[in-house]
Amino acid sequence: MKKVRVFAPASIANLGCGFDIMGLALDEVGDILEMTAEEGDGITITNLTDVPLPDDIEENVITPVIRKFLEMTGQKAKIDVRVCQKIYPGSGIGSSAASSAAAAYGMNELFDCPLSDEEMVVCAMEGENLASGGYHADNAAPALLGGIILIRGYEPLDIIQLPIPGNFYCTVVHPKIMVSTKEARKILPKAVPMHDAISQWGNVGGLIAGLYSGNIGLVGRAMRDSVAEPYRKQFIPGFDELREKILASGSMAMNISGSGPSVFSLSDKRETAHRAGEIMKEHFDSRGIKCEVYVVKVTNKGAKLLAQ
Ligand code: HSE
Repeated sequence: MKKVRVFAPASIANLGCGFDIMGLALDEVGDILEMTAEEGDGITITNLTDVPLPDDIEENVITPVIRKFLEMTGQKAKIDVRVCQKIYPGSGIGSSAASSAAAAYGMNELFDCPLSDEEMVVCAMEGENLASGGYHADNAAPALLGGIILIRGYEPLDIIQLPIPGNFYCTVVHPKIMVSTKEARKILPKAVPMHDAISQWGNVGGLIAGLYSGNIGLVGRAMRDSVAEPYRKQFIPGFDELREKILASGSMAMNISGSGPSVFSLSDKRETAHRAGEIMKEHFDSRGIKCEVYVVKVTNKGAKLLAQ
């Protein structure tokens, strides 16, 4: 029997303009799984946290990730998973991706690393598909590989690691309202008007240029979303008003994190990031919505082994 204990971090997907193609890994927050492989067949998942998870393993994102790994590598084994730490589902900071990435990474470690980074991302996307009804890697890839990630293409998967400017602080607020990624994807229109597409690809280019040149002002200007935010902001009470307050307090940008309801802002100073956190908290408190606020730096580290 072989056993591993693995961690995969939370992540922010989309980064404003990069719907389904950009994301970054956050330090500190994340999922921890203990996984064992032994001779036999079947999957068991035990939840040791107080975060509610489905009892049926067919509804847990970890299951399709394990199955995909076994299929891709031609292995057969009995896999037991213990969920030891879990980001709250529906939070908008990549809860399903953290479990999926940890499961893919853990399986690879259990079987002596037969899969490449891209192949592990392919496995992790199976979990994302179960959770959201779509294959996207903008949470799963940063959760596995760390840093700021661009998915240049999906067929085949082409993942590009982008530079992290030194003065890059994110403030994330998780208001306790439930927005399921599935629903938040369903409300998006199937076609994007040319005018919005032009503004979106201009911003993606600007964001990449800003990251490479370390120009946080440009990064902030480019973190604009004409594709998903206009439809999704209705789920976040007072979204436009909050953004006005955040930008007036010196932050460079504020956007929905992934499909929401979490919101994140970008600052080039730690103090500004903390001020943004206070404003976000006041905003949701005054509406009777409980929230959690994190001020975080982007981490280079993705999924990793932990001591047992
Ligand atoms: N890119 C995905 C979406 C991320 O916006 O639906 C989900 O967290």
